[in-house]
Amino acid sequence: MDQYAVFGNPIAHSKSPFIHKMFAEQTGQSLHYAAILSPLDGFAESVSTFIASGGRGANVTVPFKEQAFKLVEQLSPAARQAGSVNTLIYQDGKLLGDNTDGIGLVKDLLFNGVGLKDKAVLILGAGGATRGVVLPILKQQPGMLHIANRTAAKAEELARHFCQFGPVTGSGLEAIPPMAFDVVINASSSSLSGESPDIASSYIANQPVCYDMVYGKEITAFNNWCAAQGAGLTLDGLGMLVEQAAQSFYLWRGIMPDTQPVRQALRMSLS
Ligand code: ATR
Repeated sequence: MDQYAVFGNPIAHSKSPFIHKMFAEQTGQSLHYAAILSPLDGFAESVSTFIASGGRGANVTVPFKEQAFKLVEQLSPAARQAGSVNTLIYQDGKLLGDNTDGIGLVKDLLFNGVGLKDKAVLILGAGGATRGVVLPILKQQPGMLHIANRTAAKAEELARHFCQFGPVTGSGLEAIPPMAFDVVINASSSSLSGESPDIASSYIANQPVCYDMVYGKEITAFNNWCAAQGAGLTLDGLGMLVEQAAQSFYLWRGIMPDTQPVRQALRMSLS
């Protein structure tokens, strides 16, 4: 049977095996998908052991996405711009790296009826999660994209890096342009510590769509705060997780699964 896996540390709570098992059943694909705990200093070795034992492809999660970027022999354009790899493909004796996180976000927004064309988009955070989604957002041709981060220099640096691809600016959280945003995305890791980025409530005044890339059993801190400020709609990152997985599955198997039943099952499994 064809072998696939997700590499991470920690990995016990990864939902990827659950998601890919459902995709495989739904599409009639015969494959096995495992969760592999890689030692923090042994990612490359873990991957080569996996490939040597017949591994065909893998997902990569925290904290190995940047190491995967350095490890692969060939990068997709998306992975090159993201500076990180979340999908490994072993093909014709070569290890290829792609990044499906950004397309996962865009497809989840579309799934929820949110297109980005001509919209004013604000993204909070300037770490790996933001870097992974900026180019796919710009490809949707938003009217503008502003990156705001607690540490302003990181947001400004990302904006400089991506400004060749579209209208993107960067600043600290306190210097966000005073305008009405249509979509506000939290790509910072604040919700993981139960916090919401410290931005003025006026940025939620226009009833924007608010999107937290994090998800959990409980509503995230950011989405709670946005809802209290009158957000038009709040979405969490569960759909993005399923959509990025669907894109990886498509890269490996050439079949795009239906994400709807998997979204439902995953949501149910949280409660
Ligand atoms: P990831 O890969 O999840 O993006 P990261 O690269 O460590 O993780 O980046 C975390 C991001 O969340 C950073 O932009 C960080 O802001 P700083 O650059 O100022 O450190 C942001 N972040 C973390 N906790 C936050 C909080 N409580 N409020 C606002 N931003 C926060």
